[in-house]
Amino acid sequence: MSSYETISVAIEEAVATVTINRPDKLNALNAKVLAELTAAFVGLAESEPPVRAAILTGAGDKAFVAGADIAEMSGLSAAQAKAFSDAGHRLGLVIEAAAFPVIAAVNGFALGGGCELAMCCDFIYASDKARFGQPEVNLGLMPGFGGTQRLSRRVGLARARELVFTGDPITADRALGLGLVNEVVPHAELGSKVREVAKKIASKAPLAIAYSKRVMARGFDADLALANELEATAFSALFDTEDMREGTRAFTERRPAKFTGR
Ligand code: COA
Repeated sequence: MSSYETISVAIEEAVATVTINRPDKLNALNAKVLAELTAAFVGLAESEPPVRAAILTGAGDKAFVAGADIAEMSGLSAAQAKAFSDAGHRLGLVIEAAAFPVIAAVNGFALGGGCELAMCCDFIYASDKARFGQPEVNLGLMPGFGGTQRLSRRVGLARARELVFTGDPITADRALGLGLVNEVVPHAELGSKVREVAKKIASKAPLAIAYSKRVMARGFDADLALANELEATAFSALFDTEDMREGTRAFTERRPAKFTGR
């Protein structure tokens, strides 16, 4: 596994944990972090033995990611800011394109780029200490890593507008109520809870998970008839897999299935 300066990557039993590791700056996203995260997720997609689920979290006890790095951003020209925004978008697309689910374990502040990064993940579990928000308007800015688009897709346009226009942070419980977060857990239990969910996902048929992820993501923004076509195509492709034979045979033989990803 490659070594990184601003993140760490660990793989255990087909579950990868990617940790943003700048706790003294509340894990703020600078160009280096974005590049390393992108390289890490590209690498995980090709890793052997394959990764079946990933967890994205922040180092330290205080923050998932407190935003894009304001110190670095303050000196950017418009052209450099476009490249920075593009890098954030590229990272989001790499996470969304991964064949395995990526769970955000939000262990503290998820503000600005942190909230946006969490929303690139398949779903979010949060510590009861977590705070979410899009505070860019306080800086004379607006979300630049997908916040104006993914937040409204997650919580609805009016609620997204309120968060983006006021810049106010919200508690984990409010985020749960908005549907931004799947579950809020006591701070000390977040890591073990998310690992348990990731391990469960990693034990299922990998191609079934990969196709479900792709169809759900692609279908969400498509019209229903086209989305259902995507589903039918992926569903039928699974009938050519060894795992489908194994899964259905194991059911009739009343034993746990052994999936191989073929
Ligand atoms: N970019 C760069 N550095 C950041 C940062 C960011 N988004 N968020 C926090 N930091 C740095 C602080 O500058 C400070 O560094 P220093 O110790 O070298 O001065 C360190 O992280 C700790 O932050 P601090 O503000 O002292 O912690 P706090 O507990 O008092 O406040 C926050 C926490 C999250 C409320 C506050 O840091 C904050 O508002 N951050 C910016 C949030 C934001 O606007 N994000 C969107 C950016 S587009």
